[in-house]
Amino acid sequence: MNESIKVSAPGKLMLFGEHAVIYGNPCIVTAVDQRMEVEVRIQSKKGLLIDARDVGVADYFVNFNRLGKGKRTLKGAKFIEYAVKNFVKEYDNCPGIHIKTKSDFSSKFGFGSSSAVTVGVIKALSLLLGKKLSKKKLFSLSYKTVLDVQGVGSGFDLAAAIWGGTLYFVTGGKQITSLKKGNLPIVVGYTGIKAETSLLVKQVAGLRKRRKRLVDSTFNLITEVVREARKDISNSNYTGLGELMNINQGYLETLGVNTIELSNLIFAAKSAGAYGAKLSGAGGGDCMVALASGSKMDDVKKAIKKNGGKVIDVKMGAEGVRVEK
Ligand code: MEV
Repeated sequence: MNESIKVSAPGKLMLFGEHAVIYGNPCIVTAVDQRMEVEVRIQSKKGLLIDARDVGVADYFVNFNRLGKGKRTLKGAKFIEYAVKNFVKEYDNCPGIHIKTKSDFSSKFGFGSSSAVTVGVIKALSLLLGKKLSKKKLFSLSYKTVLDVQGVGSGFDLAAAIWGGTLYFVTGGKQITSLKKGNLPIVVGYTGIKAETSLLVKQVAGLRKRRKRLVDSTFNLITEVVREARKDISNSNYTGLGELMNINQGYLETLGVNTIELSNLIFAAKSAGAYGAKLSGAGGGDCMVALASGSKMDDVKKAIKKNGGKVIDVKMGAEGVRVEK
């Protein structure tokens, strides 16, 4: 048996269908080429030792029988702890392990550092301990982990971390279809405002409670957008996709998750010639995405920067979880 293994999993960007996907609808997500590295090493001391310095966790030790039970578990360690707990529960007999993580991206952006680390930990453990895990099984253990820690989530980010590429995804992994390999001509702009996904999900749930028919009708319209976007992505119809981004953005405004900072970057990108633009993810700040032709890319980036945004250079359609040397 090897003593250690290193894997990496990509971050993600939601392209279409956020929020609606929580309620049984489809979305489109793409994996980005900024990755989370997870190294797992067998150690003599039984239990779990975590070093996740990017999120402020150093030399954090938990006994296996205390996994997930600590009242003051550090936020940055939670996904790792629950991922190990679910793995140990499923496969028993785990030796002592030391897990180190290193991320290409800041956990401030909504690039999915928690989902990438969860997938990375379970994948690395399975390879190191010789347990064969299908992608579906890796998804279900990872999804359980995310629900254990944060209670809500569609799991779309885990699918991106596992399968990579650009995916059509239905809540809880009921359908996961690869749409396209390779990059999409998308510019990502960060507002500089960190948003809390669980709060925005609750906010939309509150609106739905008060205005069920209006919100469910909006989800149905978003589902139509996702279905049309699926075709346009497969045919590389970028003018069509840009138009669909603008329509989806209107529905996200309806759901109340847009902000002035996002709008400023979205309008700036469109004025600079983007085919279309929208917020990406839960909203409330965080990132927007703009689709632009090669000749307009630089103008769109400049416009985002001029309006107070930070352009994050990433490529879409990145490879899913993989072993690193
Ligand atoms: C957040 O990036 C996207 C949401 O749809 C949440 C989820 O699908 O888990 C708001």
